[in-house]
Amino acid sequence: MPTKSGKVGIGIVGAKFAGELHATSYARCADAEMVAACSNRPEELEEFTARFGIKKSYLDYRELVKDPEVDIVSICVPNFLHYEVAMAACEAGKHVVCEKPLATTIEHAREMVEAFEKKGLKLMYAEDWNFAPALVRAKQIVDEGAIGEILYIRAKESHNGSHSPFAQKLEYCGGGALLHLGCHPAAFVRYITGQEVVEVVASVTGGLDENLVHKGLEGEDFGVALLTLANGTRAVIEGNYVTQGGMDDCVEIYGTKGVVKVDLTFGSPISVYSSVGYSYVLEKADMSTGWTKPAVDEFYSLGYQTELAEFVRCVKEDLPVPQGARGIDGLMTLAIIKAAYQSAVEGRPVDPRDLV
Ligand SMILES: NC(=O)c1ccc[n+]([C@@H]2O[C@H](COP(=O)([O-])OP(=O)(O)OC[C@H]3O[C@@H](n4cnc5c(N)ncnc54)[C@H](O)[C@@H]3O)[C@@H](O)[C@H]2O)c1
Repeated sequence: MPTKSGKVGIGIVGAKFAGELHATSYARCADAEMVAACSNRPEELEEFTARFGIKKSYLDYRELVKDPEVDIVSICVPNFLHYEVAMAACEAGKHVVCEKPLATTIEHAREMVEAFEKKGLKLMYAEDWNFAPALVRAKQIVDEGAIGEILYIRAKESHNGSHSPFAQKLEYCGGGALLHLGCHPAAFVRYITGQEVVEVVASVTGGLDENLVHKGLEGEDFGVALLTLANGTRAVIEGNYVTQGGMDDCVEIYGTKGVVKVDLTFGSPISVYSSVGYSYVLEKADMSTGWTKPAVDEFYSLGYQTELAEFVRCVKEDLPVPQGARGIDGLMTLAIIKAAYQSAVEGRPVDPRDLV
């Protein structure tokens, strides 16, 4: 390992919301050392590096990827930059952890997968749901046969809208709520079943004036898709920005011999009644008075901590990236969402494999 400490050297590109999720998680990983960070906003970068004790700062990601102490480039910038940062890292011989979605277009995602394969480098797709302890436990129970064969999965992520200005314009982000939020259930459905999606039928709001609530958002603020998997299993996935009261992530798995239900965000063991409020309840919650269910530790419960520790281990021990977290999984997840968009426009089922 090139870091003086012998740990896996991390360079984080993007120093705000997702940057904090990654930095907090790497800080908890004994085998990782955050050696560098990058943002094109100097003040934000200064605050971020000081907070996480990161010694090297770069305003240009092209410099960070060349840093000899960096083994993994963690991509936490807006969607439209994932492709160019990943390709620059690949060119510089670095492994990459890429936030969702893998890219804004199928063409870019495919190019990324091919480039990393060609160079023998790891492209790790950061689908945190696959590492969230409650969903990991649910998968163990399903794999053990507790609910028989999976017949149907219903899964969603929803909240009241993205905080990021880049998520407002399609040119920068590539889609609306179904892409940003629905990508989690889409990826999880492939992961837990081990099956490819062969047909997508979807309905989405049309963006801007056609949205339910967010009339300034170019992408949809509500999207739902019915997926058919290769073995006939059905899944309904949903992403919406019309949910008040905090981020609501739910998964229900119906099998021939039972059912598993997971409430990923409101399942806290803590109940608080406060007449004056307090600083933080859970992601996207805008009130803290009355009865609330505060998250205990979202870095852990939403999967980031385990996910990034696993990626560090993959690099340290040169292990294959687990199914569900490979570049190809990011590509197929993007294809499901793009198939949903095509289905919604054309009013017919679309096979995502035809888009890849
Ligand atoms: N897995 C999850 O649950 C999850 C949660 C939030 C965000 N994300 C993903 O993380 C990514 C970032 O989202 P965010 O919410 O942190 O966005 P953000 O707007 O909060 O932060 C983006 C960061 O990128 C920096 N940046 C922008 N352009 C840059 C450039 N050219 N060079 C260097 N830095 C640049 C900004 O300065 C900022 O630090 C998105 O792709 C988003 O989909 C994933």
